[in-house]
This record gives sequence, C-alpha cells and structure tokens, in this order.
Amino acid sequence: MATRHYLQFRDLSRREYEHVFERTRWIKAQFKAYRPYQPLADRTLAMIFEKQSTRTRLSFEAGMHQLGGVAIYLNTRDTQLGRGEPVEDAAQVISRMVDIVMIRTFEQEILERFAAHSRVPVINGLTNEYHPCQILADIYTFIEQRGPIRGKTVAWIGDSNNVCNTWLQAAEVLDFNLHVSTPPGYEVEPERAGLHGTGHFEQFSDPMRAARGADLVTTDVWTSMGFEAENEERKRNFENWQVDGAMMREAKKKALFMHCLPAHRGEEVAGAVIDGPQSAVWDEAENRLHAQKALLEFLLIGAAKSGPPKRTQTAAGRTRSKSRNPRKRSER
Ligand code: CP
Ligand code: NVA
Repeated sequence: MATRHYLQFRDLSRREYEHVFERTRWIKAQFKAYRPYQPLADRTLAMIFEKQSTRTRLSFEAGMHQLGGVAIYLNTRDTQLGRGEPVEDAAQVISRMVDIVMIRTFEQEILERFAAHSRVPVINGLTNEYHPCQILADIYTFIEQRGPIRGKTVAWIGDSNNVCNTWLQAAEVLDFNLHVSTPPGYEVEPERAGLHGTGHFEQFSDPMRAARGADLVTTDVWTSMGFEAENEERKRNFENWQVDGAMMREAKKKALFMHCLPAHRGEEVAGAVIDGPQSAVWDEAENRLHAQKALLEFLLIGAAKSGPPKRTQTAAGRTRSKSRNPRKRSER
C-alpha cells in the first residue's frame, strides 16, 4: 500500500477525520486518567525544524513519548541539511532509520520533495503555505466545545497565510463556511490555498461584516515566520484587522475565539478577547497534543487496527494482550 503522508489538510477525507477526531477524544481521556496507551513502542519520529517552534515540537515530542515511542529533534543549523545536502538524499537516509517524519520548513515544495523520496509517512509541521496539524486541533476543539462543525461559519480575520489556507481547505473537506477578511493586497489566492472550488468561502473587505453571525472567530499574527522584513509595513496595513470586543459582538453570542499562538496582544487580537470568556486558545493549544497523537496512530497503525489492545484467552486459560500491530522488520 502507498505510504500515507499528511502534507496538507485535504490529504485526509471527511470519514478519516471523523475517525481521527473520535480517536483524539479517546486518547485524550486516557491521558487525563493517567491510563498508559503505548501502541508505538519501538517507533521513532524524526522532527526536522527549519523554523522556530514551541507547541509543535513539544506536542509531537511529548505525544510520541506518551504513545511509547521516541522523538528525535533535528534542525537545519546542526545537520547537513543546513550545509546543502539535497532534501532528496536526506529523505532517503532519514526514512531508513525512523518510522515517521515531521518537518517544519519554508516552501511546501521542499516538504513535497522530501515526501516523494521518503519510505515512511511525512507530516507537515508548518510550511509557508499550510499548517494542517494546527487546524486538525482547532476543529477538534470546536467540535469538543460546540458540536459538529458542518454547516457552521468560521470568520478568519487578518493575513491570508498558511493557517488561513488550511482553514480554506478544511471548509471544503468538512463542509462549513469560511468568511475571510484581509486588508487590500493580502487577499486569498485560491490556487496557492490549493482549493478545488470557491463554494465554501466568501471574502469581505470589512472585517466586521466577516465576523457577523460567525460561530468561531479566528486570527493569526500579521507577520508570519520568514516574512519579518515586511513587519513594519504590515503593522500599518493590518491596523484595522484587530479582533476586539466590538468584532466579537458581531459574531454569535456563543462564538468561540481561537488563535494558533504565539499571539501579539494589541496587534491582531485585543487582550480582552484572547484573555476573555470566549477564548478557547489554551484548550486549542493543548489539543495539538491529543489530535497529533491520533494522527500518529492513524498514519502508523491505520484506522482499522487502532484502539486498546484486545485480550485473548491462552491455552492455559490466562488472558494476554494480542498485538494489534504486527510488523516485520523488513517492512521498514
Ligand atoms: N501554533 C504553533 O504551531 O506554534 P509553534 O510555532 O510554537 O509550534
Ligand atoms: N502563521 C504563523 C503561524 C505560527 C504558528 C507563521 O507561519 O509564523
């Protein structure tokens, strides 16, 4: 069977997301109850970072440990990747030594080249174009707190960046509406977002109108990693795209506020909103851990085989765990 990668949100179908969200709920419950669930014993994750991270590194590293496996942190500064070793060669070598790889890099194309030469699943831990693990956790958080997202309205206020592009794809896959408001010159580029159609999103020049009637209002930094040279110009251009109390009042009364973090209070979001009662940002951040554990389980074990170990009767009448995860070394 072809290796499954998670390079962009649409790499999983709606049914697969339903499975992953169900598994997230179960895996989270085990974690909360201190019940060990370690189906990934003897599995190794390599994490390659070309950009900084707190949440992504921590959630993958802790998640892999909790699932019984190991995570290895690599960055371009300390590896041969930073000295020009071709991505294709690195993919060949790294994927012979580990079972799964997560990469945070610049262009999506770098990630795709790595995946094309990898023997094992590759996960997008953020590129300039997409951040699928973030939206996986965000949508799980919405479902956990407000129920199904299908048919709901999400308002995206700010830059049409990697997180926005991923929301756009998610709206198509999971069938909800996305209202997007960006300053002029920063509008959504449907092709860059990898959209199949335009049926699930609407662009608004007025952010207040985009927020109107929304079930969830979300935003992100005005300047993403890699675009630091545009910081001052962006601060001027995005001035009116701050999510504040007045904007939240345009949304539904029970609307949630989300932000992938890190946040800049007083820029893209007012302190009163991110620290206020509608904010779900801490649950959202925590759910990176649980949702990515479900993703790792899905990519490494598959949908059919995941779950608690089955107990079987031995000839002596004792019960023993039956491996749900049979694997030959040569399959690596
Ligand atoms: N939201 C997110 O991906 O955070 P980090 O950059 O800290 O990983
Ligand atoms: N859009 C931001 C997200 C950080 C998690 C960035 O790419 O810097």
